[in-house]
Amino acid sequence: MNVGIDGIEIRTGRLKLDLPGTFAPAKGEDPGKYTKGLGLHVSALPDAYEDIVTMAANASRRLLERKNVSPADIGRIDVATESAFDNSKPVSTYVAGCLEQVFDGDFTHANKGERKFACVSGTQVLDDAFNWVRAGRSRGRAALVVATDTALYARDDPGEATQGAGAVAMLVDRDPDLVSFGDAQGIGSVDETDFLKPNQQFPSVDGKRSMQVYLARMREALQDFARNGGDIHPDTFSLVPFHTPFPGMVRKAAALGFRHSIRDTSVEDRLADQIGRQPRPEAFDDHEAYLDGIKSYTDELRQTTTYEEWYERTVEPTLDIAREVGNWYSGSVHVARTAGLKHAFETDRALTGKNLLVASYGSGAQAEIHAETVQPGWRDEIAQLNIDEQLDRRYDLTFEEYEAIHDVHNHDETTDLEPFTTPTEEFVFDGWGRMGERKYTYVE
Ligand code: HMG
Repeated sequence: MNVGIDGIEIRTGRLKLDLPGTFAPAKGEDPGKYTKGLGLHVSALPDAYEDIVTMAANASRRLLERKNVSPADIGRIDVATESAFDNSKPVSTYVAGCLEQVFDGDFTHANKGERKFACVSGTQVLDDAFNWVRAGRSRGRAALVVATDTALYARDDPGEATQGAGAVAMLVDRDPDLVSFGDAQGIGSVDETDFLKPNQQFPSVDGKRSMQVYLARMREALQDFARNGGDIHPDTFSLVPFHTPFPGMVRKAAALGFRHSIRDTSVEDRLADQIGRQPRPEAFDDHEAYLDGIKSYTDELRQTTTYEEWYERTVEPTLDIAREVGNWYSGSVHVARTAGLKHAFETDRALTGKNLLVASYGSGAQAEIHAETVQPGWRDEIAQLNIDEQLDRRYDLTFEEYEAIHDVHNHDETTDLEPFTTPTEEFVFDGWGRMGERKYTYVE
């Protein structure tokens, strides 16, 4: 059975913080730290009337409308988030409630839930939907899967420059228009304390360690994928979308992944004249010397035309949107997939039947790797995205305005602030109900 993503919609927060132009001068940092070092230009942030529910519902509404799907056609609504505001009632119930305000019919018979495992939950919900359809329990209906987060850090935390806010809504169904999922899956999962939010809104982060943990779990997932029937040869994949907390992280992960995937292949043989063969652990008496050897090999590998061309073709295009929005946590790898396909559409690449290798990651920590095959309807799907218009219409914050909106979204602060933008044809947060629930309205 051919199952995968039938349609996708992205919704960005309506505000933006210019990192080199506004954030760097206020922090007394060189703008190059953000644009060249981290690879980020802008953080997307939510206006006062936006949150994880409005962004998820707005992305979902556009998706259902343009795919001509009614509530009765949806058998499952799963939300992935690490920004939930309720320990009992899942965000998916709020999203369903919003959608029922504008669609005929209801989601009474749709199974709803919420998934948590930092950023990798955005891929786990896809996996759950895939398994549900494949198990024959969907009764011909599709799953609505949404990854939504406001990825905010405490002010002055090193992670502050990587903030972002947005949602990605996806329909998972048989005979999908966009991509189908392969069966092979690789997992690398270890109990880690690199990034966590123990009953607190903003994360406790050991930033440098989190980068090492990301790379270690990705390596384990890639090994697991290869051992279990996954083909990892670099020529197999047209695009390799990674979880992108910031593009600089992906630059590091891609080099390690490429090195691993060319081992014992003709690519390694061809490169041997230029940079030698990869060091093998058995050739070294001590592990440190092996690590030094492999690091030097990787540094040289990154300078080769073979690597540069592979990176430019398969990874760089996936970073186009992340640079303009920052980290969306659970949605980040889905933004990367979309950016890669959008770039391919705009540059007229023929991708039908071609493969993607999707590398997801969540702190705490787990990486997941699987392959996808691009479907014949992909161009029509991607042509209908309106992400460029959304990015262009964002309100550009001053640093003082950024501080004010950060306070508005800080659960420990009570700050009243007039919104910077005017909502039209969208769901907005509308205050609190008598039991402390959040309330939402659709604004014409
Ligand atoms: P930092 O310590 O402020 O930055 O924070 P830095 O000094 O390490 O500089 C960053 C890079 O910019 C470095 O490059 C510098 O050399 C370079 P690198 O050496 O790493 O290649 N640089 C410059 N380049 C050009 N011109 C300049 C310049 N100045 C410096 N003038 C850190 C960096 C990542 C620690 C911080 O942003 C952070 O804590 N981020 C949050 C944690 C994070 O994103 N971790 C990533 C892996 S974990 C993950 O992805 C999971 C996550 O999404 C959460 C989840 O799963 O839920 C975060």
